[in-house]
Amino acid sequence: MAPFLLFLLLPALSTVFNHAVAAEEKAFIGVNLGTDLSDMPSPTQVVALLKAQQIHHVRLYDADEGMLKALANTGIQVTVSVPNEQLLAVGQSNATAANWVSRNVAAHVPATNITAIAVGSEVLTAMPNAGPVLVSALKFIHSALVASNLDNQIKVSTPHASAIILDSFPPSQAFFNRSWDNVMVPLLKFLQSSDSYLMLNVYPYYDYMQSNGVIPLDYALFRPLPPNKEAVDANTLLHYTNVFDALIDAARFAMAYLNVTNVPVVVTESGWPAKGDSSEPDATVDNANTYNSNLIRHVLNNTGTPKYPGVPVSTYIYELYNEDLRPGSLSEKNWGLFDANGVPVYVLHLTGSGMILANDTTNQTYCIAKEGADSKMLQAALDWACGPGKVDCSSLLQGQPCYEPDTVDAHATYAFNEYYHLMGMAPGTCYFNGVAAITTTDPSHETCLFAGSGGKNGTFLNGTSLAPSANSTANGSPFRFSGAALSPLIIGNLLWSLVFL
Ligand SMILES: *[C@@H]1O[C@H](CO)[C@@H](O)[C@H](O)[C@H]1NC(C)=O
Ligand SMILES: *[C@@H]1O[C@H](CO)[C@@H](O)[C@H](O)[C@H]1NC(C)=O
Ligand SMILES: *[C@@H]1O[C@H](CO)[C@@H](O)[C@H](O)[C@H]1NC(C)=O
Ligand SMILES: *[C@@H]1O[C@H](CO)[C@@H](O)[C@H](O)[C@H]1NC(C)=O
Ligand SMILES: *[C@@H]1O[C@H](CO)[C@@H](O)[C@H](O)[C@H]1NC(C)=O
Ligand SMILES: *[C@@H]1O[C@H](CO)[C@@H](O)[C@H](O)[C@H]1NC(C)=O
Ligand SMILES: *[C@@H]1O[C@H](CO)[C@@H](O)[C@H](O)[C@H]1NC(C)=O
Ligand SMILES: *[C@@H]1O[C@H](CO)[C@@H](O)[C@H](O)[C@H]1NC(C)=O
Ligand SMILES: *[C@@H]1O[C@H](CO)[C@@H](O)[C@H](O)[C@H]1NC(C)=O
Ligand SMILES: *[C@@H]1O[C@H](CO)[C@@H](O)[C@H](O)[C@H]1NC(C)=O
Repeated sequence: MAPFLLFLLLPALSTVFNHAVAAEEKAFIGVNLGTDLSDMPSPTQVVALLKAQQIHHVRLYDADEGMLKALANTGIQVTVSVPNEQLLAVGQSNATAANWVSRNVAAHVPATNITAIAVGSEVLTAMPNAGPVLVSALKFIHSALVASNLDNQIKVSTPHASAIILDSFPPSQAFFNRSWDNVMVPLLKFLQSSDSYLMLNVYPYYDYMQSNGVIPLDYALFRPLPPNKEAVDANTLLHYTNVFDALIDAARFAMAYLNVTNVPVVVTESGWPAKGDSSEPDATVDNANTYNSNLIRHVLNNTGTPKYPGVPVSTYIYELYNEDLRPGSLSEKNWGLFDANGVPVYVLHLTGSGMILANDTTNQTYCIAKEGADSKMLQAALDWACGPGKVDCSSLLQGQPCYEPDTVDAHATYAFNEYYHLMGMAPGTCYFNGVAAITTTDPSHETCLFAGSGGKNGTFLNGTSLAPSANSTANGSPFRFSGAALSPLIIGNLLWSLVFL
């Protein structure tokens, strides 16, 4: 079925857009601050963490006075929210809205740099009964800002669940659930006339989970796909390499369907859970790290989407802290980058050249077996390292600290890293015929300490930074992006056609 549509609709949509958004703008990464923690850090501690991590954008789910005061004079840009519980009141009374703005916004600026107000959260899907007052709420809040002369610096919008977009694949056929035309049409007009943006929550994790295996994990995680396996939108011939981009372009096509083509998209939530129950096998530290690291690099690189390459799509990661009090499945409590003590759940792999330790100043790198490397080649390299390479491999013997896990991957990783450090981490010493790769994640586990780990246990080091960190000196390809890691072609062309047509 693919070829037909491919040629029928090709020219129609590709020239519709003439994008108005200034491409010089740089996209930013922010974080969401959920507060359902039994041991919620104080506002001062939260701000200290944000500063240490060089996070310059934060979204609150309310307008907590303590938080807003702590954020004063920090240079951090803040999105505050009208919680859903207050939405009906605000949407029904101009005076209530004006009050809300004066108490929660005007009282704090300019010391606290409030740059946006998110009115409600996923209202159309979470609280549809408030749908009819949503646009009034935005307009009332906006007119209060106008009255205070704050409307130029503070944007008003409302975060949507991507579930309001139907038929997102292929993106060019996406449209907003028509049941909400009476809200979406005036909403988009409002965003357009007030120079605001569409706030969208984008969760490839859920799309992946709900796809029953149709969406490959790699595609959700921004892992590279061979060009012939990329998803092609048959109408536009645009190649999609990840779910995130596809959803954003779907939102743009859905807006265009309502004749709105110049409202930018800001992603108010995106992330991946690091832990889940037995029904959530892909909520793992590794996947969460991969998703968020790739997302951050994708956003900060100003890569844009296939539809609008280079057009910034600023994104708030969901979320700063694990929220242990959140109800629901185990994954609900495990979307955070940090625990309540500010200890990172995992070390993000940042920088253009691959993985990076946030706080780049430590330069610590390790040499590991490449994911998916051929086990015969690994064995040969392991034999070489422990023999001619002069690595002391006694820790790998049965009963010794690094015996478990007794796999060629794990043992090769140990030996490669020993060799690499023996050679002073010199360039070219983490190669092993292409089956090794440099990483910044400490591979130490339990009592098996790796060279360079400095006795640290686990995989985190202090100072994971979300900043577009300093130019990394780490060369060598990260294992996630190494050519060899592409190995099994999980999915055939037929399946791609199913995804997108
Ligand atoms: C607030 O953020 C804006 C960016 O949106 C920036 O232009 C402005 O200088 C900031 N104001 C303060 C007081 O930091
Ligand atoms: C709402 O109040 C603002 C002042 O806060 C005023 O400028 C505006 O005209 C009012 N709008 C309506 C629809 O009453
Ligand atoms: C569209 O929205 C309506 C109203 O909320 C809802 O009942 C319906 O299920 C939605 N359609 C889809 C396909 O999600
Ligand atoms: C969009 O524009 C087309 C053509 O001008 C028009 O027919 C259609 O009614 C418009 N749709 C909306 C939602 O404004
Ligand atoms: C960064 O952007 C350039 C194009 O502007 C693109 O070629 C490159 O693949 C992007 N890198 C990442 C990691 O997204
Ligand atoms: C990096 O870490 C060192 C030591 O942990 C600390 O002194 C320094 O301030 C950190 N730098 C940044 C930019 O976080
Ligand atoms: C990081 O590496 C550079 C060059 O490889 C070296 O000059 C510098 O001293 C290192 N910094 C630390 C903190 O080890
Ligand atoms: C590392 O942590 C684990 C539990 O997290 C503990 O059992 C182990 O003894 C620790 N190892 C070292 C060397 O501290
Ligand atoms: C890392 O951070 C924790 C919690 O903030 C702190 O207790 C610990 O001293 C820090 N460790 C180092 C090496 O800076
Ligand atoms: C990073 O690289 C760019 C261009 O390669 C250079 O202009 C800039 O000074 C570098 N920054 C640092 C902190 O080394």
